[in-house]
Parts: sequence; structure tokens; C-alpha cells
Amino acid sequence: MSGDTTYDFKVTHSAKAMPTAQREAILADPGFGKAFTDHMVIVDYNVDKGWYNPRVVPYGPLSLDPATSVLHYAQEIFEGMKAYRSSDNKVRLFRPDANAQRFRLSAERMAMAPVPDDLFVEAVRQLVTIDRDWIPTGEGQSLYLRPFMIANGVYLGVKPSSDYLFMVIASPVGSYFSGKAVNVWVSETYSRAATGGTGAAKCGGNYAAGLLAQAEASAHACDQVLFLDAAERRWVEEMGGMNVFFVYDHNTLVTPPLGTILPGITRDAVMTLARERGLEVREEPVSIEQVYADVASGALREAFACGTAAVITPIGSFRHQGGVCTIGDGGSNGPVTGALREALVGIQRGTDSDPHGWVWQVG
Ligand code: PLP
Ligand code: COI
Repeated sequence: MSGDTTYDFKVTHSAKAMPTAQREAILADPGFGKAFTDHMVIVDYNVDKGWYNPRVVPYGPLSLDPATSVLHYAQEIFEGMKAYRSSDNKVRLFRPDANAQRFRLSAERMAMAPVPDDLFVEAVRQLVTIDRDWIPTGEGQSLYLRPFMIANGVYLGVKPSSDYLFMVIASPVGSYFSGKAVNVWVSETYSRAATGGTGAAKCGGNYAAGLLAQAEASAHACDQVLFLDAAERRWVEEMGGMNVFFVYDHNTLVTPPLGTILPGITRDAVMTLARERGLEVREEPVSIEQVYADVASGALREAFACGTAAVITPIGSFRHQGGVCTIGDGGSNGPVTGALREALVGIQRGTDSDPHGWVWQVG
């Protein structure tokens, strides 16, 4: 099937789809990543057959041999994206081609079989089509889509697997963070990625390696962790699950350059939207001591986190072993953060025009 431009998905409807009233109760207050829709997508890969047997099946557990490769050597990658349903009942995705491309690059970095971009997008489309009633429509709500791939060859030798499972599951979500601004713990102990490592790939191992730092953040009453570079422990990289931006003098955005960080699709969109609004945007190294000094001098007025889950979330403070660095009043959206968020959300939800062709109507 590899190389085809059309994919023939076999669809098996769930005999145990959730009753409407129960689903509506979940959609009223979905939280994040707690409930899952009635179906999932699975596509198999074998090194001799290529991608085969694309199918939509009832959501349910997998059965894996204990010697399955992913359980031992962590060949696993994933994506995060959202489907929106508007008041006119249209279903939209935001830049699914960019997620497909990043998934392919993550696969290459992890020595996995790349999923063709059109198969990736079609798999997502299949799931949002069959489970469209699961897309919540309230403010800040969407259907979070989680495409992922695991190595499912059964073999204990350390080498790339001969078999893979590409899957897509979906979860109705509200806001990732409960408060307005987030407090961020600056990890001086743990690093997320190093030059030559897997920082730019969206592989599960990066997140496992960050969990202890995230736990340290929680212990300091912070919502997220900010990682510094692994070599000098001074250059800002990114947060556990989102990219970071700093706003200077109301007219300049600064964000760390690509390399060891995840190339966020929201990050890319934010830079475009900011330039269109006349802001200067710089991708350049930012040292954490400079951040503290610039907040103290008043030059650094706002900071925000951005990502699919976080959208654009203001940062209220950076906390670290040496103290607390509070940004603005510590709790509210600055004007630049607010304007960028409004512009992004307007395009994503289909209420504003989409000059870049970022939004794909899929149903
Ligand atoms: N950085 C990390 C570590 C992430 O997990 C995410 C979320 O996917 C991002 C950045 C933001 O990426 P995107 O905007 O593509 O969701
Ligand atoms: C996303 O934004 O899609 C992520 O993968 C980040 C995670 C915090 C859920």
C-alpha cells in the first residue's frame, strides 16, 4: 500500500458506542485527555509489506507480546493536534500537513518507518469523521487527536524493529491549564535534550526523561518546567510540553532557536502572526540570567507558553532555587500575548479568515 495516494480504510463501527446523554455529560466538562471516543485507527507496517490493513475499529486495549520492541527500547513517537467544530457544524483541523511532516521526521530520527503524509492525514480524517459527535463546541474546547506509532516487532536484539503500528486515538478536551497564567519552574538539575540527541523529535522518551523535572516543578507549586541547555545550564530551551516566547518593550518577540527543541507548529504560526502585526521576531539564544535581569529592568514585559495543548498561555512567574521572578502582575494576559492568542484562536476555530491556508475543512 505504500506510495498509494488513496487508502482504503475498513471501518468497523463500535457496537458499544457511548449513549448520547453520557457523551454529552463528558463534553460539558471534558478536562484534558481523560475520556476517549468510540473508535480508533490502526495501520500496520512490515518491512516487506510496507503499510497495510488500514482500519477504523472500536476503541479498546491492545494485546502485545511481552517481547514487543517498544516495551524494551522505546521506539515510540507521537503527535498532538486538535479538531474544531464550529457553529455551522463544520469540522476543521489546524495545519495537519505540518503534523504529518513532523511525524515523518520524528520517525526518521528514531529509525522507524515513516508514515506517508497523505496516509497520516487520511487516518486523522477517518477518525474525526466517524467520531465527529465527540468534538465539543464550547469555548476553549476541541477534540485532541493523538496519532502515534510503536515498534511492535517481537525480538530482544537491539536494532530497529521490522514491524510498526501506526494509530490515532482522540479525546475531547477543554483547557490544558486551569488558571489564567502559569507559574514555571526553572530546572537547574535536569536537562531535556542535548546536541545530537532526540530533542527535536516528538518521542515518548523525551517526556519520560522530563517527568522528574515536572514533579520537581509541582513540588514548587509550578504548573510546568522550563528546561535549560544541557551543556552550560543557562540557555533557555523549552517547557515540558510547549515552546516559550518573551515579549520585549511591547514590540519584539524573542524565542530560542531550533536545534534541540521541538519545532512547534504553534511556535511557527505565532511567529508569522506576530510579523504580520508589525512585531519584530527574533529566534536567538536567551540566557536565563538575562531573563531575570530584563524582567527586573522592565524591558521584558510578557512571557508566554505555546503549543497545541496550551494554545497561548501567559506565564506569570519563573521560580528557581534562588527565588521568584514575577512577570507583570503575575496573573494576567499582557496585551501582546492576548492579541496573538485571539488571532490564533480566531483562525483555528474558523471565526477569522485564514490567509495562510492553515485550516483544513475535513467534514
Ligand atoms: N515543545 C514540546 C516539548 C511539546 O510537547 C509541544 C507540544 O506538542 C510543543 C513544544 C509545541 O508544539 P506544537 O505547537 O506543535 O503543539
Ligand atoms: C501537545 O500540545 O500536543 C503536547 O503533546 C503536549 C502535551 C503537554 C500534551
